[in-house]
Amino acid sequence: MAPVHPSKVYICRQIPTPAVQLLANHCELALWDNAEVAVPREVLLHEIENVDGLLTLLTESVDRELLAAAPRLKIVANMAVGYDNIDLQAAQERGVVITNTPNVLTETTADLTFALMLTVARRVVEATEYLRADQWHTWSPMGLTGLDVYGKTLGIIGLGKIGEAVARRAQGFGMSVLYHNRHRHTRLEETLGAVYKSLEDLLQEADFVCILTPLTPDTHHLIGTRELSLMKQTAILINTSRGPVVEEHALYQALVAGQIFGAGLDVFEQEPVGSEHPLVHLPNVVALPHIGSASMATRTAMAMLAASNLVAVLQGQRPLTPVY
Ligand code: GLV
Repeated sequence: MAPVHPSKVYICRQIPTPAVQLLANHCELALWDNAEVAVPREVLLHEIENVDGLLTLLTESVDRELLAAAPRLKIVANMAVGYDNIDLQAAQERGVVITNTPNVLTETTADLTFALMLTVARRVVEATEYLRADQWHTWSPMGLTGLDVYGKTLGIIGLGKIGEAVARRAQGFGMSVLYHNRHRHTRLEETLGAVYKSLEDLLQEADFVCILTPLTPDTHHLIGTRELSLMKQTAILINTSRGPVVEEHALYQALVAGQIFGAGLDVFEQEPVGSEHPLVHLPNVVALPHIGSASMATRTAMAMLAASNLVAVLQGQRPLTPVY
């Protein structure tokens, strides 16, 4: 009898150990064993020559070139809910299954979205820096005063699972919820009192505009100069989805001109960014290094889901969370 060869999997980064162990129980593994540095493209293209499965992060571009470099590839398991780093059409043409990690990161990402709303509105980072710079000499009646969150109007652009989780949190803060989406969400209109608005009306009426839509050709630069000009001067823009949904230069100008109150950004057009990025310097911006899903439990759950998708497909079963 011919020996049965285990499937080969390449993991593009150091990921939580339980997920590596799960894969090691079923597959022959190779991995880029570094948590902080992405696998160089030329290394990746070489490593995947004979692999059946690939575990990617949002830092890997899964395009035609990459797919052609892995002729045996059956599945790409992306350890992210977003999959704008993947050329779905090219993958479909080659019969490669693509999976993502929805659901397990919903609440954690909603927590961070809400944290940004509170932090920008109440100037938490500015206040911390003020204290660290020994500027706190007395209690000041109007010092570091910001905006309330309680009772305000939240506008969600892209009411999916994470948007719903943010809207639930908003209920606890006595907020009204507006949303703009490709499709009406009648269940949430009934259960959460979410009100559907055109993009223009939402921008004009919301105190907090939260962007939670996936990045697609339709949402690329959805928020630019015109859209920002519709927002209230006291409004705050939060982006925890993908950077290119917002035109950064337009946002910078709106913030500097005081057209809006502030912004909370977990994502950028070109990641990573550093201290040289103009938005990072603004006092009315809270900038984070794409940590929406970064709790220990959630990142472990994402890695386990990606690994489980790989094991399922490589054993001839249906993937748990296919994107198509
Ligand atoms: C993170 O941004 C993700 O898509 O999971």
